[in-house]
Amino acid sequence: DKSGHRHFMAKEMAEQPSIIQKALAAYTNEADGILNLPEGVQFNDIRRVVMVACGTAFYACQVAKYWFEQIARIPVEIDIASEFRYRDPVLERDDLLIVVSQSGETADTLAALRHVAGHVRRTLAVVNVPTSSIAREADVVMPILAGPEIGVASTKAFTAQLLSLLLLAAKAGLDRGKMNADDLTTLMSEIQAAPGLMSQALDRAQEYARIAEELAESDDVLFLGRGAMFPMALEAALKLKEISYIHAEAYAAGELKHGPIALIDKTLPVVIFAPRDVLFEKTISNMQEVMARHGQVILLTDADGAKLAGEVQNVIVMPKAPTIVAPLIYAIPAQMLAYNTALARGTDVDQPRNLAKSVTVE
Ligand code: M6R
Repeated sequence: DKSGHRHFMAKEMAEQPSIIQKALAAYTNEADGILNLPEGVQFNDIRRVVMVACGTAFYACQVAKYWFEQIARIPVEIDIASEFRYRDPVLERDDLLIVVSQSGETADTLAALRHVAGHVRRTLAVVNVPTSSIAREADVVMPILAGPEIGVASTKAFTAQLLSLLLLAAKAGLDRGKMNADDLTTLMSEIQAAPGLMSQALDRAQEYARIAEELAESDDVLFLGRGAMFPMALEAALKLKEISYIHAEAYAAGELKHGPIALIDKTLPVVIFAPRDVLFEKTISNMQEVMARHGQVILLTDADGAKLAGEVQNVIVMPKAPTIVAPLIYAIPAQMLAYNTALARGTDVDQPRNLAKSVTVE
């Protein structure tokens, strides 16, 4: 049931603010705002976090690495499941393995979990399907509570994964004494703001459609971002490839000079994720390098950023978001640009060619 939407993907994108709201309510005590995570989620005896996943779930891990390091000062290693399982990774007893999977059935992620079981103190599965193989085999399960995701392109599972991982990072910060009660209160109030900001980001429908008309005419699109916006760029490129079949690449903005700048000419759209944060000026200087070579810039930033960025061909003004939750907000344009581009190209949004919802073979 698409609840009046044209596609499952559209429905699932629209559901995101309420899913995040509900998952947040489920994982906090209303009375005191204190975290209420599944039994067994604890970081007291853990010295390193190792996170493994595929596709979009891997990008959620990539964002979470910034959160765990920043909030909990704990070393984090992340890897793609198909690489991790064959590379003979060095594992210690006091590592926590976190596997992230919407379906809980992804063959490589499941194999990675099996590979590690017995070598580390604990395994934790962040999954959407609580009855899945991965959920059954992990020591501890944290359901992301997104509800069934039908569209092959993952959307609401991504933002729900992000929320779960952010709450895990907060728990790690508390358990390791890197955050006190006041810090937690501040963080939780920033997280509480996310659903409302996500709704505002969804409201830019006309802007996404206008930019998508341009993207739909292109053979290639480049996405750039720094910090947690780098995985957003990766996610945006993956979404665009999956459902519009347009070739897309994503780079950390600082890598531009190390190669991809050679691609830039007046035919190349370059989508830049640049909220006004501590990295903003660096990213804007990369944007200027693109403009100097006549690339077609599409800047995603907030009102402050738009003012500071100067004259830019295309700007989509996002709501101003606390830096820590910005990935939840900027996931929306990543998805909406791909969705609208696919609409403009007339491709099959919910069932893209060659792809399966759940990849149960290697
Ligand atoms: O079910 P999983 O989260 O383990 O799936 C992982 C990937 O196959 C999945 O995220 C894939 O990349 C999506 N099609 C992305 O939209």
